Amino acid sequence: MSVTQIAIELGTSNTTVFLSGNGIVLSEPSVVAYSGAILRASGQRAKEMLGRAPEKTAVVCPIDEGVIADPAAAALMLGDFLGRVIDRRVFPGRIRALLAVPCGLTADERRDFEGVLLQCGVGEAVLVEKAICAAHGMGLPIQSPKGCFVADIGGGTADIAVISLSGIVEGCSICLGTKFMDRAVGRFVLEKHNLEIGPLSAEKLRESVGSLYENDVSTLTVNGTNCADKSPDSATVESRAVSRAVAPYYRRIAEAAESVINRCPPEICAQVLRSGINLCGGGALITGLEDYIRNVLKLPATVFPDAPYAVISGAGKLLGDRRLLADILNQN
Ligand SMILES: Nc1ncnc2c1ncn2[C@@H]1O[C@H](COP(=O)(O)OP(=O)(O)O)[C@@H](O)[C@H]1O
Ligand SMILES: [Mg+2]
Repeated sequence: MSVTQIAIELGTSNTTVFLSGNGIVLSEPSVVAYSGAILRASGQRAKEMLGRAPEKTAVVCPIDEGVIADPAAAALMLGDFLGRVIDRRVFPGRIRALLAVPCGLTADERRDFEGVLLQCGVGEAVLVEKAICAAHGMGLPIQSPKGCFVADIGGGTADIAVISLSGIVEGCSICLGTKFMDRAVGRFVLEKHNLEIGPLSAEKLRESVGSLYENDVSTLTVNGTNCADKSPDSATVESRAVSRAVAPYYRRIAEAAESVINRCPPEICAQVLRSGINLCGGGALITGLEDYIRNVLKLPATVFPDAPYAVISGAGKLLGDRRLLADILNQN
């Protein structure tokens, strides 16, 4: 009986699934809504319920800071996602999965991921670091001894690594992602406009007018609640205000990247300084990131055009290259 091969990225913000022979078949927010043990919604529909659901419905983001925060909710969510893309009657229990994970997981965190996959009917699973998947997805030569330098800026973590000979030479997964930036944007709007906004409005602000160029003059009007009298209200927020809220996070990501390079052996360090850093993940799509990183780190910086899908593309490509995958798994 044939086996279904899939690659999965269970991200803090989004879950993506690659089905061997089909490509990327699912990309949904990592959110699930349920009451009791009954699933109400998953993905985009569940995300739209955040802050609006009736009392007895829990709306949960089961992945937090890159790891599983709520195993039962994660299994409910992923089980529903997989049910949309795999016909279980044809392949009961015959699913082999490659899961992209942050680097430096503890044994407990690995077990949580494996446990969730098992509950979703995955018979066999391997875990590969997101940074390696991202580099492969961006078409970088991960097997070469020259080294390549990547940063995947996601919702809950930024995974930064120098990769050479199919393994991580130096890397880190830091708890700095777009969710933290959105909270900072929310605090900023509260202080400046006395307006309380929800996470979806904060995300919209960052996505539409967030910029790392100081002279950006765009604005966006958002709705919320006036703090003084709790009435519905709105405010027009300037790009500059959003930038001020998010820039310290990008600064810390740049500093973490710098410390990763500084820990590398000199040969690789010299090579990487020449070839530069390759950025991906949804957080890399903020306007002006390439110029910002070039200025701060004084090295070339390239944002991958299909930034949110670099990890899952690389993970998917690995499914079809058993030798490279074995090589990667042997490094751990
Ligand atoms: N065009 C865009 N501009 C700015 N941010 C974006 C854009 N597209 C997606 N994002 C951001 O990407 C973030 C999610 O990134 P992603 O790499 O999918 O995270 P994760 O893999 O950790 O779940 C979201 O917070 C979203 O706001
Ligand atoms: Mg990601």
